[in-house]
Amino acid sequence: MALIEVERVSKRYLRWAGLRRIETTVVDRVSFAIDRGETLGLVGESGSGKSTLARIVLGLVEADEGRVRIDGVTVRQATIQSLRRRMQPVFQDPAAALDPRMRVVDLVTEPLLIHRSSVEGSVNRARLTQSAAELLRSVGMDESALRRYPHEFSGGQKQRINIARALALKPEILVLDEPVSALDVSVAAQVINLLRSLQQELRMTYLFISHSMPLVRYLATRIAVLEQGRVVETGESEFLCRNPQADYTKKLIEATPKI
Ligand SMILES: Nc1ncnc2c1ncn2[C@@H]1O[C@H](COP(=O)(O)OP(=O)(O)OP(=O)(O)O)[C@@H](O)[C@H]1O
Ligand SMILES: [Mg+2]
Repeated sequence: MALIEVERVSKRYLRWAGLRRIETTVVDRVSFAIDRGETLGLVGESGSGKSTLARIVLGLVEADEGRVRIDGVTVRQATIQSLRRRMQPVFQDPAAALDPRMRVVDLVTEPLLIHRSSVEGSVNRARLTQSAAELLRSVGMDESALRRYPHEFSGGQKQRINIARALALKPEILVLDEPVSALDVSVAAQVINLLRSLQQELRMTYLFISHSMPLVRYLATRIAVLEQGRVVETGESEFLCRNPQADYTKKLIEATPKI
């Protein structure tokens, strides 16, 4: 059984066009599965429904049809608290995800406090600081960051702090929604390489979302191409990039410069 199973998931939104109410299907009967330890790259243009799908997988948005199962457990309001321990998000805007009034030590260990009842051992101050230092080291930062506030860091460092926070509960799954799109190319490359080595080290499973075909090709074992809410093509990364079948996939490959 795959670790993540997305089965015929659909989402519609209503919008007004003048006096007319129009229903648009932003995710249309999407299915895919992700095996343990695998990275599935979800690629598509702006507005293709990638973030909506990420939010459905995370249980932040409810699907109108279909279901998502994590290790056999259906993602629902009732299961989301326990699933959050196993599945953590990292979003595009690194600053927005960090409360500016909190020090890094508290930001990084907050998930341990929230899930206190299910974290092994006691969560006293000294242990939290020690955990925070370890988490920071795992993302290539050092203890001097602990007492500082988010605004004192660059975008790349902020995203490292977000990743450290996502790792606090030792999740099996990261849902990464455009995690480097707000960063400069060279900083983005460092964060991508960090994600890659963390995955190998911690044997995590990734749903990696991006509009960039070269990035997805670099990080993902398999790729699903999303066009206007529909998966038009799925395949092993290298094979799909060399033998794209759908016109839309060809367009995405041609549209992006080689890295
Ligand atoms: N809460 C909402 N209410 C109404 N429409 C929405 C809502 N959320 C998303 N949409 C619409 O759904 C479509 C898909 O949006 P989504 O954010 O999933 O796309 P995306 O692929 O993540 O795009 P981007 O690459 O720009 O992040 C868009 O047309 C968007 O306007
Ligand atoms: Mg998005």
